[in-house]
Amino acid sequence: MLCVVYQGDPPMTPPLTALPTLNAQETETKHVHIETFGCQMNKSDSEKMLGLLAQKGYAWTDTPEQADLILINSCSIRENAVNRLIGHLGRFKPLKRKNPDLIIGVGGCVPQHEKEALLKRVPHLDLVFGTQTYHKLPELLDEFHQNQRPIVSIVRQVDEYPEEIPVIREGKHHAWITVQHGCSAFCTFCIVPYTRGQQQSRKPEAIAEEIRQVAAEGYTEITLLGQNINTYGWDLDPGTSLGQLLHLIHDIEGIRRIRFLTSHPINMRDDLIDAMAELPKVCEFLHLPLQAGDNELLKRMRRNHTVEFYAELVDKIRAKIPHIVLTSDFIVGFPGETEEQFMGTVESVRRFAFDSANTASYSPRPKTPAARFEEQLSEEEKSRRLNVLNQVVREVALQQNRRHLGEIQEVMVESHDAERNNLKGRTRGNKIVHFEGMPRLVGQLVDVKIFDVTPNTLRGRMVVS
Ligand code: SAM
Ligand code: SF4
Ligand code: F3S
Repeated sequence: MLCVVYQGDPPMTPPLTALPTLNAQETETKHVHIETFGCQMNKSDSEKMLGLLAQKGYAWTDTPEQADLILINSCSIRENAVNRLIGHLGRFKPLKRKNPDLIIGVGGCVPQHEKEALLKRVPHLDLVFGTQTYHKLPELLDEFHQNQRPIVSIVRQVDEYPEEIPVIREGKHHAWITVQHGCSAFCTFCIVPYTRGQQQSRKPEAIAEEIRQVAAEGYTEITLLGQNINTYGWDLDPGTSLGQLLHLIHDIEGIRRIRFLTSHPINMRDDLIDAMAELPKVCEFLHLPLQAGDNELLKRMRRNHTVEFYAELVDKIRAKIPHIVLTSDFIVGFPGETEEQFMGTVESVRRFAFDSANTASYSPRPKTPAARFEEQLSEEEKSRRLNVLNQVVREVALQQNRRHLGEIQEVMVESHDAERNNLKGRTRGNKIVHFEGMPRLVGQLVDVKIFDVTPNTLRGRMVVS
């Protein structure tokens, strides 16, 4: 397993105990342990970090106790993520005492705003780098070895991201493909434009080349990544679009399924919906965050659209792609959110029948306008609203999943659990399916008849033709 990844808050990890003493032999090959927090973009960056470090002779280790280098690729989307990152780093202090040569580094989104302050809060840190400098990891490590002093390498925004970065991917069949860096939408609650910089799209040919390469390595499923992926290519000269990119890459031999994340409703143009409807490899899955079900809130979030606009868009999408799996993100307890406005959000989950939704209570973030808005809600109230919303999200997800009962779904098999002789895979709509089967089916597309569902998973039986 390459990375520990969570969506939102860091996982609670059991306390480190019984630290093994490293002997000379164990330290001959250098080992790196990377823990990744946050979104898929961070996950993809960690795969590149590992690729770069492998070129420097580092091998992966699952256990921090065996590592010569521990890297945390951090997320800053919510306040508690930062505090828990600091707590998490504290757990490595005893390892550093045992092995003074151990190098501990933090990359990703938190250093982009905390910078050298992180060194003050975590004195046993050696390396602080960000989303714009992770590709310099090998040089930063050389510099650290030479000077034996902590290094902080933060740049607000690079002019151009390097294309030639080696990658060691966690998945064997599915690959993340970053098509766009940064975000220029500046929603009033969101820190991403400040931690990732303004939008920079990669050139279509470079993306197609990367996909040809992963296809040649045997990958069959890809997810294109961008924070506001529906504006992909608008900043290029000549300009292009996500719809055009999907057409360009569609016929790459070996790729069977294509998905993309994350769509902003205001930028979802007809050519993209048409491309999704026309191109068979593009899966019936759309993550289209609504964030709130009230026009006043949407305005103050600077989402630039109304609930009615979203409703028309969803109608258009469902008319052209009837089996689309639709998912969303929601924030509850945005500054000034009234009970009535909150109920609008709850109601929208039922109205749009989301297959699933990521939900979070609003967290003020540095530099963002909403952090300065008046009428911040108490944590208790935000937490109450979050519980109410989560319950409705689960109810609606269960209803949506029940619609699959009796259906035959095409499933890409991802893993096998030997103990239970259980296979786990995903439908084209990105739903997780469990069913019995042999390990040799991992990586294959199989048909599964669904006979049981929960809000988060489907259970089925393989259909043998
Ligand atoms: N680019 C995507 C979009 O436009 O919807 C989302 C990217 S963001 C990494 C993922 C989600 O985190 C957002 O959709 C939002 O729901 C949530 N989020 C962002 N800032 C937040 C904040 N300050 N407090 C709580 N949740 C937040
Ligand atoms: Fe954040 Fe908005 Fe950009 Fe999404 S579109 S990353 S929510 S600023
Ligand atoms: Fe977190 Fe940065 Fe992604 S803040 S959600 S890791 S872009």
